[in-house]
Amino acid sequence: MKESYITTAIPYVNGNPHLGHAMDYLLADTLRRYMMYCGKKVRLQAGTDEHGNKIFKKAAELGIPTQDFVDQNAAKFQDFIHSLGVEYTDFVRTTNPDHENRCQEIWKRLSDHIYKDSYEGWYCEGCENFVTDKEHDENDGICPDHKKPYIKLSEENYYLRISDFKDRIRTAIESDELKITPTFRKKEFLNLLKDMPDVSISRPKEQVEWGIPVPGDESQVMYVWIDALANYITILGYPDEDISDIWPADTQVVGKDILRFHAGIWPAMLMGLDLPLSHNLLAHGFITVNGEKMSKSIGNVVDPQEILAKHGLTPFRYYFLRHASTTEDSDFTWDKYEASYNELANDLGNLVQRLATLCKKNAITGRKITKVANADFDSRMQKYEFNFAFDILWDGISELNKRIDTEKPWAVAKEDPAKAKDILEKLVDDLLTINDRLALFLPDCAKQIEEIFTASEITPPATPLFPKN
Ligand code: MSP
Repeated sequence: MKESYITTAIPYVNGNPHLGHAMDYLLADTLRRYMMYCGKKVRLQAGTDEHGNKIFKKAAELGIPTQDFVDQNAAKFQDFIHSLGVEYTDFVRTTNPDHENRCQEIWKRLSDHIYKDSYEGWYCEGCENFVTDKEHDENDGICPDHKKPYIKLSEENYYLRISDFKDRIRTAIESDELKITPTFRKKEFLNLLKDMPDVSISRPKEQVEWGIPVPGDESQVMYVWIDALANYITILGYPDEDISDIWPADTQVVGKDILRFHAGIWPAMLMGLDLPLSHNLLAHGFITVNGEKMSKSIGNVVDPQEILAKHGLTPFRYYFLRHASTTEDSDFTWDKYEASYNELANDLGNLVQRLATLCKKNAITGRKITKVANADFDSRMQKYEFNFAFDILWDGISELNKRIDTEKPWAVAKEDPAKAKDILEKLVDDLLTINDRLALFLPDCAKQIEEIFTASEITPPATPLFPKN
């Protein structure tokens, strides 16, 4: 059986993991759990993007060798991913020699579509970046960040001839051979594609030292995006190994800001290598804080560890998978987070406590999980509307709470114990059915609930699942 493959964007390791990075992992993990639930074998890649000037400079600033710096940060990202309850099968690091060698081989295989050209433009020595003529004029010729005049610089670069592939990329996206979710981002990208120029895929070594050398030209290093995008296949062994039993990816999860690289450059690379395109690109929205973009200069960066420390993992996953949209931007505030925690405690925590207590009183023994089809849930999951799929489960939980209130099994027990038993067993069966899918979002909590209601004796947890503050 061909394995399914899900990928996540590989973050730059010039700093610590931040809250925004969590989204890629939570979505990919939920999707993986869902596909496994549907009987598939699924691989999930994660990794770190470790080249480029920002990383090189940061390490220099800290006075540590660059490789040591990226080693430390890659370990932090691995810990971070684990702390989210996310299970990846493959971890790729772009400074790994296997990756570097494979990247060079990929470059060689793309050589028919690569040419050298010189580029002349306005350049800021502080930013180490070219700016457009428009930007130059808008800033009156002076970089606003470095207060230094832009200089005219001419640079030799290698270019990838996107024009060789543009028509095929457009057809693939329009026909959903490469399906982009959400649809409004697909439209946005197709507009962008019209004027997409050939992309520069190398930098002179004197400007970017920390990168993979261009094969056959020691004076140039690969542009970080070529190196980074290749990760999705180098980790599978390409081109040393045949990857046809796993590639193409089923779904590539990316943030909205990097969709254009994944919908433009990456398909061009795959076409140049004669590899099939991935089936789906899922572009998620951004996490904002108090309605604002998270940024170090605004000083509103929220440390995910701080949120995790507050109530643990389950409330974290609950908030970001149910109250954050899969595809739109979503806001985090501590107030909203507390409200979400209380909802979790009142709806699910109480249900478990109440129902287990009633079962114990009425000597109800553990039940088996019954699998019941849920077409609405499947349809939401297949459309990547994970938060709406989660809502469906929550409606089920609210419904069970209502049924306990209206069917009053404690009162029925006094008159008709057999009927009370029947009511309680049905409630437990229905909870276990919901819980089976809840495990896709809240694996730890669902495991605990399953243990409670399938044990030979049903006993309420000694402390509630979500203690009141
Ligand atoms: N290194 C590139 C990706 C290469 S993939 C071949 C990169 N790194 S990043 O660290 O800037 O971003 C990593 C991921 O985090 C991206 O998917 C990005 O969209 C996502 N996010 C970064 N900030 C975010 C939020 N505030 N909210 C949600 N996701 C965000 O781009």
